[in-house]
Amino acid sequence: MSLWGGRFQQGPSDLLWAYTVERADERLLKHDVAGSIAHARMLAAVGLISESEGDDLIRGLETISHDGVEYLQTDEDIHSAVERRLFELIGEVAGKLHTGRSRNDQIALDLRLFLAEAADDQMAGIQRFVMQIVQTAERHTRTPVASYTHLQQAQVTSLAHHLLAYAWMARRDADRLEDFSRRVAVSPLGAGASAGSSLPLEPAITAELLGWDSTFDNSMEAVGSRDLAAEYVFICSQAMVNLSRLAEEIILWSSQEFNWMTLPDDLATGSSAMPHKKNPDIAELARGRAAIAVSDTAAILGLQASLPLTYNRDLQEDKRLVFSAHDRLMSSGQALGALVAGSEFHPPRPGSLVLSLDLAEVLVGRGVPFREAHEIVGGLVAEAEHSGIGLFDLKPEILHAAHPSLTVDDIPTIEDSLERRAVPGSGSPADIAVQVIALKAWARED
Ligand code: ARG
Repeated sequence: MSLWGGRFQQGPSDLLWAYTVERADERLLKHDVAGSIAHARMLAAVGLISESEGDDLIRGLETISHDGVEYLQTDEDIHSAVERRLFELIGEVAGKLHTGRSRNDQIALDLRLFLAEAADDQMAGIQRFVMQIVQTAERHTRTPVASYTHLQQAQVTSLAHHLLAYAWMARRDADRLEDFSRRVAVSPLGAGASAGSSLPLEPAITAELLGWDSTFDNSMEAVGSRDLAAEYVFICSQAMVNLSRLAEEIILWSSQEFNWMTLPDDLATGSSAMPHKKNPDIAELARGRAAIAVSDTAAILGLQASLPLTYNRDLQEDKRLVFSAHDRLMSSGQALGALVAGSEFHPPRPGSLVLSLDLAEVLVGRGVPFREAHEIVGGLVAEAEHSGIGLFDLKPEILHAAHPSLTVDDIPTIEDSLERRAVPGSGSPADIAVQVIALKAWARED
């Protein structure tokens, strides 16, 4: 049903309809109806419609909420489909629902209602993901690996430390969502088409009925802004980018060259040609989808950049970007969480050169200035490399010549190195226990 036939001599062409109708908003049905119920209640509360008219509207809307609505070829958008169905159900009184409202403030509300629920779902998904990472990490608090900088082996750490880094990154994504949720919970209903209404509407009543405690400050921006849609797409995209980094590591780690992990059979794919292949397709697709998330973030910003205030139809395009950002992150978090939880980790022990900083710090403990210690250990590394041996195999006289206090006992084992990590957050087994407790407590929160 078209909501605007009056001033036209001719109905819309098929071409116009095909080009302008975007059915993605079907997904907003539940939110659209919830917003309309709140609006109808407010209209009755301020006396713009009678109590019994309000009851009729709500009864019809509840039926729609329960049964759904069929999107007809003739419906311009989800708002039109709901209103058309309402007429079918309750007759002429349906015409009173749109009192003091425009589809401009209506869609702004629907989107906020969707975003509020989406953020909650996403936070719960992130909690599940964090729990899967933490439970996997817990099994590897003493599994030594090299940390990497520049993809070169750097220091000794544990696999738990490396995995938990992703849990903390995900937790920060959830923090962003929580903060975002506060900004979302502001009702734009009452803003009307752009500059409010002469009717005695009470936006605060509608907001309260929706469980929100604030209303718009400026009707123009309330209907014309989509920064929250963009913020949500960004938050999801940052989370996708974090997942993509994990995906990239999974791809590397499951290669024959790294051989840090074995993917579970049921979450890996094979090759139609090469019988031996076991491919990390989930991780590759997460990485590929992160690339799309990045470009969708640019798209939703670009969508707003050249729009004069207030509502412009361009904004209809925000829906697909928001929905796909949401779905992409939900499914990617779930898939990568399962991949980590189901994999077997068996990283090879790192070589002894990752202990060079530890050895320099032994000298620092004896009063040697760090720069000098760095130089001394650098010389030992060169010596070891030249002889094709590790730090553990350096002869006592070589160590003594480098610095008179040095003996073979000064070279820490990989396990010692891990234990000695004194700075909080730097991955000693005791520190990992602290991280695990904190993350688990957070992941279990409601
Ligand atoms: N389908 C539109 C959208 O998604 C709803 C608002 C339409 N408003 C209008 N004046 N045409 O943005």
